Amino acid sequence: MSEPKPILSRTPTDSSADQFAADVQYYLALQPRQLPSRYFYDALGSALFDAICRLPWYRITRAETRLLAKHGREIFDAFGRGVDTVVELGCGSGQKLMTLVQAGRRAPARRLELRLIDVSASALASSAGALSALDDVHIVTYEASYEAGLAEARAARPGSGRTLALFLGSNIGNFDPPGADAFLRGIRAALARGDGFLIGADLVKPERALLLAYDDPLGVTAAFNLNLLVRINRELSGDFDVSAFTHRAVWNARASRVEMHLVSRGRQHVRVPAAQLEFDIEDGESIWTESSYKYDPDGLRLMLERAGFRTIHQWIDGDDTFALTLVAAA
Ligand code: AVI
Repeated sequence: MSEPKPILSRTPTDSSADQFAADVQYYLALQPRQLPSRYFYDALGSALFDAICRLPWYRITRAETRLLAKHGREIFDAFGRGVDTVVELGCGSGQKLMTLVQAGRRAPARRLELRLIDVSASALASSAGALSALDDVHIVTYEASYEAGLAEARAARPGSGRTLALFLGSNIGNFDPPGADAFLRGIRAALARGDGFLIGADLVKPERALLLAYDDPLGVTAAFNLNLLVRINRELSGDFDVSAFTHRAVWNARASRVEMHLVSRGRQHVRVPAAQLEFDIEDGESIWTESSYKYDPDGLRLMLERAGFRTIHQWIDGDDTFALTLVAAA
């Protein structure tokens, strides 16, 4: 029988409710009005995102899972001294990490540290629960931003083996280009030379396919987007009339990104007392809630190399829609 697998939790030290209020106040006052996409992921938002990942039009999750299953062994074998810690930034449901470990780890294996970082408590709980079914793993969860969680995980680095950090699901696409560069440099700084970093990123594809992925016929992505207003109403005593906003997805080819917006139907007055905010929004005016950047394979490698990584391998799925890139800290 394998030894018990304790699951430790670390919770954020900053007041995330105050941060939410401050961000809502700041971003909704900008022109154009905005809201940061990281606030999509309350319990309902996380469940809706899981549903998005099952939609036939949203292919990121399935393409990435296939690549992880097919190349997991090569990924683990790329590190001579062996990987003893895997840190996943934004673990979601944990299924992808599960697929990678099952496909890639060689038996008999030494105990593997799995460090899960996510801002969503519900995602951490379900991910840790699923992963605890693996043999000989020690799971630590961090309910924190990627940067804070990675800094903590780095401070707790255990043995002599390599760390493999994962940033999957094209989460990189939710950063603007300067933000992505800064984020990747931060990850590089948190790793030791020779550690690995595996990043999954969605590729540019025909506009019709992109728009169906972000404006699906079932309306799940619309609900995911609108839930941000529901969350503001609940947590910050806002009075958004959620039914008076429409979800809109736009492909911005020049910037290589899909944008999601919430468009006001009619002129409305909105109050968000806990964010000390009150404003009028015009008919047709939008709140920009998310950017999902799409990449080409060469551009991805260049972006990683600029941040101080050396490319080990890049795998692209059969339909040329998604890339998994393995790099080492140079
Ligand atoms: C989490 N992130 C990478 C997703 C994306 O594709 O940008 C979030 C999402 N937004 C709409 N659908 C999915």
